[in-house]
Amino acid sequence: MGFADSWNRRECVKAAVYTQYGLPDVLHIEEVAKPTPKDDEVLIKVAAVSVNRSDRENLTGKPLYARIGGLLKPRHQILGSDIAGRVEMAGRNITQFHPGDEVFGHILTYTGGFAEYVCVPEQALALKPASMTFEEVAAIPEAGLIALQGIRDKGQVQPGQQVLINGAGGGAGSFAVQLAKFYGAVVTGVDHSGKLDFLRSLGADHVIDYTREDFTTTGKQYDLILDLAAYRSVFAYARALRPKGRYFMVGGSVATLLQMVLLGPWMRSKHIRLLVVHPNANDLVFLTGLYEESRVVPMIDSRYPLREVALALRYLGEGHAKGKVVITVEQNDNTEYSPQHSSS
Ligand SMILES: NC(=O)c1ccc[n+]([C@@H]2O[C@H](COP(=O)([O-])OP(=O)(O)OC[C@H]3O[C@@H](n4cnc5c(N)ncnc54)[C@H](OP(=O)(O)O)[C@@H]3O)[C@@H](O)[C@H]2O)c1
Repeated sequence: MGFADSWNRRECVKAAVYTQYGLPDVLHIEEVAKPTPKDDEVLIKVAAVSVNRSDRENLTGKPLYARIGGLLKPRHQILGSDIAGRVEMAGRNITQFHPGDEVFGHILTYTGGFAEYVCVPEQALALKPASMTFEEVAAIPEAGLIALQGIRDKGQVQPGQQVLINGAGGGAGSFAVQLAKFYGAVVTGVDHSGKLDFLRSLGADHVIDYTREDFTTTGKQYDLILDLAAYRSVFAYARALRPKGRYFMVGGSVATLLQMVLLGPWMRSKHIRLLVVHPNANDLVFLTGLYEESRVVPMIDSRYPLREVALALRYLGEGHAKGKVVITVEQNDNTEYSPQHSSS
């Protein structure tokens, strides 16, 4: 059998593909070859995948650090890192999962999830609790891990501490507000005016509209600042920290990132650093445990079908989303999309 024959015999599946950086219109639904798992991978039939700011950054190639691995053209052509679905096939070395298992996880390369099938390394996956939907668990990985590792591990938040979350109304921020409250902090959430009621509903004690007030110039100081949208100087952040306070940049501008790396370690008595999130299946299990105790809930703003991934990314970029946007890949009779955002 020749190469052409074997290619023709490979099963094809749908995926949202892009071959150049740009706005969401560069994404198209195409038939691609169904992926085959390597020995340490699991093939998953995707039921839901959530949309992250990082997907949009990798789509547009902005900020510049989103082009690592592909300066002029994207290295990977299918985005989507936070998947949930059923195991269809397990590679030779897989011990934990079996066909039919319902799983979810974060793909470290940020790729492959906007598709009907994806291959994922075993260590990135956790079992979906029966009490949660595929959409709910797909909303957790990247945003939940940023929040947990920022608030619990790096932030080491203690009851009564003052915690400020900048960019609190988005994916990671909506988890971070709930987690900071869970650990007993007094929480200030910062976002634009359209998201302030949402922040209060998550438990924020104080809110700041960043379009009207700069939290680094109010004179108030915090024990921990978790910054999902860092655009200021390290000196401004140092000013807003209590002595021995901690600041962590998660996302923002290249200029601020360079300052963090070059100047952060030299700031006296203030801990100003980058937070690099680590995929961790135990942390995913921890977060679903908090859901089952009704402590932390994935906040899903809207749902889109796979054919409307581009619309979902556009919606996220327009600054409407309160919490997470989710793509429902496997449709069933109960699937309900957000009518105001979807043509279905
Ligand atoms: N360090 C790491 O390891 C790591 C890993 C993954 C992702 N990330 C980064 O984490 C960041 C946050 O992710 P996410 O999924 O939570 O994003 P998101 O859902 O877009 O949330 C960001 C929030 O910040 C708001 N915002 C925008 N500009 C702001 C400003 N100047 N001041 C205060 N708030 C502002 C946004 O409002 P609008 O909706 O109006 O824009 C949005 O509500 C992204 O930049 C992503 O690349 C970092």
